[in-house]
Amino acid sequence: MRGYFVSFEGPDGAGKSTVLKEVLDKIGPKLKTQYLVTREPGGSKIAEKIRDIILDPANDKMDAKTEALLYAAARSQHVEEIIRPALSEGKIVFSDRFVDSSLAYQGEGRDLGIKEVKQINDFATGKLDPDLTFFLDIAPEVGLNRIQKLRPGQEDRLEQENMAFHKKVYAGFLKVKNLYPDRFVTIDASQPIDDVVNQVIETLEKRLPEIF
Ligand code: TMP
Repeated sequence: MRGYFVSFEGPDGAGKSTVLKEVLDKIGPKLKTQYLVTREPGGSKIAEKIRDIILDPANDKMDAKTEALLYAAARSQHVEEIIRPALSEGKIVFSDRFVDSSLAYQGEGRDLGIKEVKQINDFATGKLDPDLTFFLDIAPEVGLNRIQKLRPGQEDRLEQENMAFHKKVYAGFLKVKNLYPDRFVTIDASQPIDDVVNQVIETLEKRLPEIF
């Protein structure tokens, strides 16, 4: 059986990590093959070190291109060391964020251009694309509000950006999902978590029946 690559995307505070954990708690034992859950930026030892540099609020002078390249560098390591080997062993890889986050945050949010950021990521990943991408859709105001309630005063460098930036990122995600309509599935993340989790599972059963 071939491996499958499933990514979860969305603005800050969409609840991706919680949803991913609850989905795997429910379906993990039922899956036919082994799976792994990973995240970006990070997912491997070197990539997690790059994550610390990117998200450190002290690095407020970081240039937008530096930021985009660091995300791509972390991703390259993550793909080569973790994702590609797992896929060639026929595993299912569930990733909390992937290239689409760079297209929305750096391409649109930082004005570097979606096309330009896609090019550096194609170089970094050898053009690896997910088979299926969940977009957990939440208005930026609602997402940030959730984070401020959850972890008051502990926002990372990206979360600390102003609302105008987060609105651009959200608009970026809408553009990116329109670029890849076959791969993207949008789930309303303002619903109660149980509903979000169930809709993700129903979609997996429909789109990837062979993994169950
Ligand atoms: P996280 O909160 O989902 O762990 O992600 C950390 C932050 O990094 C979040 O604000 C989104 C941002 N990000 C980018 O700007 N570009 C990327 O390519 C990725 C993967 C994340």
